Amino acid sequence: MLLRSFMALMLACVLAACNDGKPSFKNTDITGADYAKGFALTDHTGKARTLEDFKGKVVSIFFGFTHCPDVCPTTLAEMKGVLDKLGPDDAKRVQVLFVTIDPERDTPALLANYVPAFHPSFTGLSGSPEATAKMAKDFKVFYQKVPGKTPGKTPGSYSMDHSAGSYVYDPQGRLRLFVRHGMPLEGLVADFKLLLGGQ
Ligand code: NI
Repeated sequence: MLLRSFMALMLACVLAACNDGKPSFKNTDITGADYAKGFALTDHTGKARTLEDFKGKVVSIFFGFTHCPDVCPTTLAEMKGVLDKLGPDDAKRVQVLFVTIDPERDTPALLANYVPAFHPSFTGLSGSPEATAKMAKDFKVFYQKVPGKTPGKTPGSYSMDHSAGSYVYDPQGRLRLFVRHGMPLEGLVADFKLLLGGQ
């Protein structure tokens, strides 16, 4: 009998996730963090944008650069996969933002060619080198120019080292999650659904 009540309790725990009423996110819950509160940048159409413009949507922000050979295109392709898995109704309530940490090369025109190619709703954002540096600091994002060393590369060519990972905001504009690069898509889909459902 005792074992049975224990089993019932365990089952109740599993069903309720036994987590003090907090939603059980698959990604890192950073609710209440006192950084990455917002930004003022220009989108790939030339329009001034802040985080408030995207209220009502789950917002995912990723920092990168269009010349990136691996992490950036992979992340954007994965986010497209997440939207596909969410389905059209939920996908409409998700906004993916790509912030360039290479504003010298990534003009709004270049971002307009690159970012929406992954998904028409994706938006590229850029700022002056100073605004970019300030935002990166606010968001605890690291980036650094790395001179091109490959033989035969054009002089002055460079790459960028940068943090990989995304920040996710709920529809009220509150910072909620940090998503490490390479996390399974299913976890993101589940977390976006929780946030879209008002968790
Ligand atoms: Ni990259």
